[in-house]
Amino acid sequence: MQTLHDIAPLRARIAAVRRAEGRIAFVPTMGSLHEGHLQLIDEARRRVAAESGGDSAPGLVVASIFVNPLQFGPSEDFDSYPRDLDRDAALLDARGCDLLFAPSVRTMYPVAQTFRVQTPPELGAVLEGAFRPGFFEGVCTVVLKLFNLVQPDVAIFGSKDYQQALIVRHMVQQLGLPLDIVAAPTVRAEDGLALSSRNAYLSADERARAPQLRQTLLALAQSLSDAAASAVMSPAALAAVPHIEAAQDVALQRLRDLGWSPDYVEVRSARDFCPPQALSAEAVSASPEAQADVRWVVLAAARLGKTRLIDNHEWQLLPPA
Ligand code: PAF
Repeated sequence: MQTLHDIAPLRARIAAVRRAEGRIAFVPTMGSLHEGHLQLIDEARRRVAAESGGDSAPGLVVASIFVNPLQFGPSEDFDSYPRDLDRDAALLDARGCDLLFAPSVRTMYPVAQTFRVQTPPELGAVLEGAFRPGFFEGVCTVVLKLFNLVQPDVAIFGSKDYQQALIVRHMVQQLGLPLDIVAAPTVRAEDGLALSSRNAYLSADERARAPQLRQTLLALAQSLSDAAASAVMSPAALAAVPHIEAAQDVALQRLRDLGWSPDYVEVRSARDFCPPQALSAEAVSASPEAQADVRWVVLAAARLGKTRLIDNHEWQLLPPA
């Protein structure tokens, strides 16, 4: 694996692959890599292998490691965010990554980055965006810049950061960028905890309790599915109107009772991220087939001690038997 820190050699390598008509698959990261990131590299490799032209156009799997200051708030963990480039590079190399781009802050932002990607409030100022103002602006700005440098045909994001992947997909569509966005499944520990670089902040006791976040989301989804299954009305309409907010409140209280400090637990349409009120209107007017096809996602962020964890669960309500 080649490691590059500067833009000029990166552009030269990308141009060579492009001239040979090779495909480029890209995994942007902030380092502190774990198995979740490495499975994104596996997915990138599969995409390149499936779509490249064999030996004549072998394609390229590119990862970036850059702890992006633009997406950290003033009281967040930018300075203490774990950094170990040698360890990360060895993991990427062993996993078959071809090229690591690991720029410095000065390389990415040689002058103050005053041009930024402004995200639409209905996507970027809710949930994570409401609790981390400017976060998605920072993410989209660096991701757009990385896309311009790496020129990938496909970029792979983890589904644990559900809202991030969704916003990046919208950005790519609206700005007409020539690449596909793939959201790969969340990788979990055996007890269900979503793998995250920030899990390293958990004490042993907190680590043992951390799967409670996912369990709470699964319980919420189950309670809504049960309500829909016992309903005479369409599942989507019934569950959307009277139950969603109550189910969210139950989940928030459950987390508090377990000693967590939740920021939010919110149900959204998996298709367009619209909130329960809009979801209910959509569900009521939809045909029975479309109602059966409504996919929902519940997203949550909560603090356990000093560590803020996020997770989500996507599911489909089944119509009553
Ligand atoms: O998910 C991350 O690690 C970061 O938000 C990303 C996409 C690499 C942008 O800095």
